Amino acid sequence: MRYQDKKSVLFVCLGNICRSPTAHGVFRALVEQRGLAHLIEIDSAGTAAYHIGNPPDHRSAAAALQRGYDLSDLRARQAIAADFDHYDYVLAMDRENLSELRAICPASFKGHLGLFLDLAELDPREVPDPYYGGPSGFDHVLDLVEAASEALLDRIAKELNQ
Ligand code: 4NP
Repeated sequence: MRYQDKKSVLFVCLGNICRSPTAHGVFRALVEQRGLAHLIEIDSAGTAAYHIGNPPDHRSAAAALQRGYDLSDLRARQAIAADFDHYDYVLAMDRENLSELRAICPASFKGHLGLFLDLAELDPREVPDPYYGGPSGFDHVLDLVEAASEALLDRIAKELNQ
């Protein structure tokens, strides 16, 4: 969908059941709030295949719902090289995800491939994997993702002259 008047964003983590679906749901809600849903396409994917077809982790879904984000329609898929033909922004949650993405990114890719938190100049620059930790990790993911989503939308809205 590489039209000048529309943008597309793919959020990527390892499993596509915790961090990237959280980013997908939070960014989607923000885009809807600003009335830009018709101009911005959003998806998420994992670098690994373990969870293909699965809904978000119940801990991510519950933490997101506490803040009003419904992730229940999302299903995991794996990121593929063809994603780079489609998306303007491919945003990795951590450096390992980024290096996996670089390995499949075609040389012809003209979009932005980078760390999601880099766009918000947030420290830490990575969204930590909450999968093996306690409940506070899922809230921390939401804090980082909410802040970075604002920065991402400001940037894209400018590009769209909105
Ligand atoms: P995510 O978290 O990359 O944020 O979706 C993980 C999900 C599953 C696994 C690791 C991280 N796993 O090892 O199955």
